[in-house]
Amino acid sequence: MRRVLITGASSGIGKQLAQDYAAEGWEVTACARDGVKLDAVAATSPLISPLLFDITHLQETRRALQGRQADLVILCAGTCEYLDDGVVEAEKVARVMNTNFIGPVNCLDALLPGLAPGSRVALVGSTACLLPFSRSEAYGASKAALAFFARSLAVDLTQRQISVSLIQPGFVDTPLTSRNDFPMPMMITVAQASQYIRKKLAKGTSEIAFPPLFAFVLKAASLLPVSLQKWLCRKMVR
Ligand SMILES: NC(=O)c1ccc[n+]([C@@H]2O[C@H](COP(=O)([O-])OP(=O)(O)OC[C@H]3O[C@@H](n4cnc5c(N)ncnc54)[C@H](OP(=O)(O)O)[C@@H]3O)[C@@H](O)[C@H]2O)c1
Repeated sequence: MRRVLITGASSGIGKQLAQDYAAEGWEVTACARDGVKLDAVAATSPLISPLLFDITHLQETRRALQGRQADLVILCAGTCEYLDDGVVEAEKVARVMNTNFIGPVNCLDALLPGLAPGSRVALVGSTACLLPFSRSEAYGASKAALAFFARSLAVDLTQRQISVSLIQPGFVDTPLTSRNDFPMPMMITVAQASQYIRKKLAKGTSEIAFPPLFAFVLKAASLLPVSLQKWLCRKMVR
């Protein structure tokens, strides 16, 4: 039986992925910190096992993950906090970087030594790092760091025959985005996001950005001169 380990499986995209992979017959290890929410996810299928740990704590993550086998690892846990008016609060930036960048690194530290040739690791970044969006200093930087890390790691893991995919969603309707107070164009449901991700991972795609039109527009804009990118992003500020 194929095995998938998913972080961030108590909510949003990760939860949907856990339930959909179980429905496809995969054995799912569903990871997060909230035991009540995770138990509710596990209750939906006998194929889902909950695993509680905080990805920002290295020792806790090693205890939880070391020696675990999986054909597919999806590092989906993440958070978002915005800066206001260019005020740089170091604690806020550290929280976002710890969860979105150091957290996946902690998981990889624990898991990679045990992964067999043929397995795949998928890191969930964001299309938000493609342009210098207002208030996104911390979130965008964390996802830009993750994107670079994923691509560089893909080069180095080729020799072990472990594949790396970078997943960059646009807006998906989840508890994370329900806190946003700005327009979110082309927003999709978690079911649609899960379908994109599972289809592309099954094909072995290494760069997965969706929804396609939204990702195309942002990628095209990211090729513009930086001064023009900043002009565009200033225009978007209300
Ligand atoms: N929604 C979007 O529009 C969107 C767009 C682009 C990228 N993304 C990315 O997609 C991923 C999932 O986002 P979502 O929208 O589904 O968010 P969500 O509904 O808020 O879910 C976030 C998940 O991350 C887990 N998590 C957060 N901090 C953690 C920690 N320190 N240790 C372990 N688990 C932790 C949470 O579980 P516990 O609280 O139970 O620990 C939860 O399961 C994130 O990486 C996000 O940046 C989302």
